[in-house]
Amino acid sequence: MSRQIPVGSADELAPGQRKLVFVDGRSVVLFNIDGGLYAVENTCPHNGASLASGQLEGRLLRCPAHGLRFDVTTGCMPGKGGLNLATCPIRNVAGTLELTVDDTPASPCHAQLS
Ligand code: FES
Repeated sequence: MSRQIPVGSADELAPGQRKLVFVDGRSVVLFNIDGGLYAVENTCPHNGASLASGQLEGRLLRCPAHGLRFDVTTGCMPGKGGLNLATCPIRNVAGTLELTVDDTPASPCHAQLS
């Protein structure tokens, strides 16, 4: 079962911007990349560093600690294999940013937000 959680106004996340939000005790980084909305866990799967200040190169977010890169649209590292960053669906509902949290234990969003 999934839940939709409002996390702010869409006006706060213009193209090229990011926003850190807290949901169910976890932190999530929201991105607007060329009008596309993305949400990723704010914890690097390598060693737990915060990703909120990581450099964004197109869709690739570079971890400020050791430099691993993750595609914010998929959570995957470039190439085959590697670590995966948890992602969650996010959408603009009548001007409100709405994060979808899945309560299914196998869901990456469950691991992120439960
Ligand atoms: S903690 Fe992110 S690359 Fe090491």
